[in-house]
Amino acid sequence: MCGIVGYSGHRRASEVLMDGLKRLEYRGYDSAGVAMVEDGRLVLLKRQGELDVLQKALPKFEGRTGIGHTRWATCGRPSDRNAHPFVSCDGKLAIVHNGIIENYTALRERLESEGHHFTSETDTEVVVHLMETHFSGDLRQALADTVREIQGTYAIAAVLEGSQEIAAARKENPLVVGLGVKENFLASDVTALLSHTSQVLYIMDGETVSLTPNGVAVYDHDGASVKREPSVVTWSAEDAQKGGFEHFMLKEIFEGPNAIHNTLLGALDLIENGDVLPRMDFQTVKLVACGSSFHAAMVGKYAMEEFAGVPTTLELASEYRYSPGAREAPLVILITQSGETADTLAAAREARRRGCRTLAVTNVVGSTITREVDEVLYTRAGPEIGVAATKTFLTQLLAMYLLAIRIGYANGTLSHDSMRSALSSLRQSSNMVQSVLNHIHDIEEASKMIDKADHCFFIGRNINYPTMLEGALKLKEISYIHAEGFAAGELKHGPLALLDSTTPVIAVAIKGDHTYEKMLANISEVAARDSPVLGVGLEGDTDLSRLCERMIFVPPVKPVFSPIPVTVALQALAYYVANRRGCSIDKPKNLAKSVTVE
Ligand code: F6R
Repeated sequence: MCGIVGYSGHRRASEVLMDGLKRLEYRGYDSAGVAMVEDGRLVLLKRQGELDVLQKALPKFEGRTGIGHTRWATCGRPSDRNAHPFVSCDGKLAIVHNGIIENYTALRERLESEGHHFTSETDTEVVVHLMETHFSGDLRQALADTVREIQGTYAIAAVLEGSQEIAAARKENPLVVGLGVKENFLASDVTALLSHTSQVLYIMDGETVSLTPNGVAVYDHDGASVKREPSVVTWSAEDAQKGGFEHFMLKEIFEGPNAIHNTLLGALDLIENGDVLPRMDFQTVKLVACGSSFHAAMVGKYAMEEFAGVPTTLELASEYRYSPGAREAPLVILITQSGETADTLAAAREARRRGCRTLAVTNVVGSTITREVDEVLYTRAGPEIGVAATKTFLTQLLAMYLLAIRIGYANGTLSHDSMRSALSSLRQSSNMVQSVLNHIHDIEEASKMIDKADHCFFIGRNINYPTMLEGALKLKEISYIHAEGFAAGELKHGPLALLDSTTPVIAVAIKGDHTYEKMLANISEVAARDSPVLGVGLEGDTDLSRLCERMIFVPPVKPVFSPIPVTVALQALAYYVANRRGCSIDKPKNLAKSVTVE
């Protein structure tokens, strides 16, 4: 989730760029930089850290054309040299980029063999070197020729020494042009433009743009000129930060499909080539985490045993370090979206002290956990502002499946065909989530069954037992309703005593799962105590819907992967319940995004 800004006009570019970058701050970032045309020459300034660090280092540039970037590190840790912009060897071109260049390794090898000198560890840097090879006087054409060689996703902006032009290109990453009078703007997010103009041109996939103070020209993939009427933006700056969503949490739930897509893009190759966990000489796996991440670990245990047949144990990070310690030296996988949770960091240190191999699953490049472990698998959910974990949790589930499939294939539990088929099911998961989101208004309606309750139960079995623990956690943390998750088979061992007509029960039963019939029996037990049941099941499941007062349907899915769409449905449910109760959704009371105390 990086940010791009660009300006060409009559004002000091540095001031417009810094203002734009400030307005993108809410997206989160770990470094920032600008490139400007100053007295005809390109100047570049970039810094790791807060925007203030860049601001303090910025001299009073007079240049009127430039580009800027805020970076959320994905390829290459946060540092000055990995920050954007990047400049060509001859110093004439500079670029910024959002997205992922999938074929960068091959491109870099080729460019290095042709004599290009690289200064960073990023995928992005290949873009500027490629542009240099294609440049023969026309900046936009050089960019158009460059993107033809790139596989992956991108929004790119480029500037050229001695020129007022900005060239830009887009594929699967947002890019918008702001139209002014004798000045024009560029941004990855309309938020950055709102203080200057409400007239914008949205750039579409495959298009390239040339922007100067006097005009904007858009071209399609084949180089033909595109005519497009400007759109008028009516958002306030505050609305726009949230992309028009009422809360960050809802925005982040809607970012689920993209987060899955990016996580798979980043990890599939690593998993298939065996770059993650190259050594497979462990007998057991231990999964260690806190809160929602622990629920992802629980799903991971089921996945690990299903796909890899490896005995897997779980421990809360806050307990692990005080436990007697395993005799064998297993692989310990630590799951933490922030990479800064104190208990999980302490557990990582303890695991190494005990001689275990350690692998972290985290969403934040360069976070502390990455320095405490032997290996890292990154989720690529982008920054999450809402305190409740949503898209980061979803991508943790993906990481659990990917690791289980990797280990299962490497240890021979999965054949090549089964491995490919499992990965191809995972590739479908982003569509499944999108399909849940397409019917989100049904979930909003279903929230009316719960919003007045004081207590609420979530029940599931097998791989959806942790999903229901997570559903309950989400509801309690943002709506303040007392919510508990149970393995459905446990109800009759005590909790059933609490059920009556004022206690709604959310029950998941996935047709095709070997516990499905047992779930139907548990739901009947609950309904017999007059508890209103909100069922979560597969589209068209009439056996389940007959037993429930109301249904949330998810698209057809193999039971083992059902936590993915079910999770998103329960996140949305918690959101709408909390919204109906008027709660402070993005900042629930007493909670913080990253828990740095033990
Ligand atoms: C719940 C939530 C927390 C975190 C927990 C661990 O929505 O976000 O339960 O999951 O504090 O945080 P990380 O994953 O950063 O270690």
